[in-house]
Amino acid sequence: MIEIVKNKDKKGLTNSLNINETFRNDVKKGLLSNPKTLSSKYFYDKKGDALFVEIMNLPEYYLTRSELDIFKNKTKKLIDSFTIKADSYFELIELGAGDGLKTKELLKSLTAQNYNFEYFPIDISSNALGQLKQDLNTEIPNLSVKTQQGDYFEVLDSLKKSKHPKIILFLGSNIGNMTDEQAAQFIYKLGVNLNPDDKLLLGVDLIKSKEIILPAYDDSKGITAAFNLNLLDRINHELGGDFNLNQFKHQPEYVEKEGIAKSYIVSKINQTVTIKAIDTSFNFIKGEKIHTEISRKYNDELIEQIIANTDFSIDTKIMDSKAYFADYILTRN
Ligand code: AVI
Repeated sequence: MIEIVKNKDKKGLTNSLNINETFRNDVKKGLLSNPKTLSSKYFYDKKGDALFVEIMNLPEYYLTRSELDIFKNKTKKLIDSFTIKADSYFELIELGAGDGLKTKELLKSLTAQNYNFEYFPIDISSNALGQLKQDLNTEIPNLSVKTQQGDYFEVLDSLKKSKHPKIILFLGSNIGNMTDEQAAQFIYKLGVNLNPDDKLLLGVDLIKSKEIILPAYDDSKGITAAFNLNLLDRINHELGGDFNLNQFKHQPEYVEKEGIAKSYIVSKINQTVTIKAIDTSFNFIKGEKIHTEISRKYNDELIEQIIANTDFSIDTKIMDSKAYFADYILTRN
């Protein structure tokens, strides 16, 4: 059973410090740990965002195409799973909307069938939201789009005031970058912000063989490697580090029994790196790894375990034609 802290303090450390200070503290703590770690949440600066867009279009990165297959070819199943009547108003809220590639398929279908709803894309990037709104205004002019910039839970807290039925989309296996405990905590918190019968559509990558998963995190063009190593570049620029990116390499690992793809940055030589903003030097021995990311893969049992202590239950599971990816539709009890 995965334990959840149900009365967690709302104002965590992250809220009380500015982003740069949090970044500095996290980098210091991570590099002083044994083994060394850096959080994947820091991948996404401007360059990291652009690299991730490239990753999503890579032939090896099947996740995007698999979920798009569901949204394109199983749209009716998705809409049926929402159990909403065409004439009763609901709110479709997407966490981390990005470019909306997959969601557009759903939005087009709902609009064509005259469903009565508004779309609330939430994203931390106001640039991405502006672009998405512009695209949607052109592609689906009848759709009402209310962009919400900011932290998911702050925005959800403000949307909670409306008692209209809500459907939350959390796609792309974004949950997979959290540990199972963090995922359980996250879903629990979503439940706190929702009402009974509201839905959560959770898109997750499924456990499968190493031959399919590893190339998705080790593409032939080296884009994923650049994405991972960009974290060192970010430390150099923002914290005055002197990482020589040529002396480190990207290394993904996947053990099918465990179902977690892990990304590491490995030191190619014995070396010392100094980070001015932390006023500290860090020694690396040849072959030493910095753990940067987990990309968890799932099956029914794991999803059941993760939601066991939350207020959600599984309604439906919809998979792509290759059964690589699943969208679980969960109902808030
Ligand atoms: C955003 N997230 C779901 C991606 C994943 O597959 O874990 C991030 C990523 N990391 C390397 N490639 C893609």
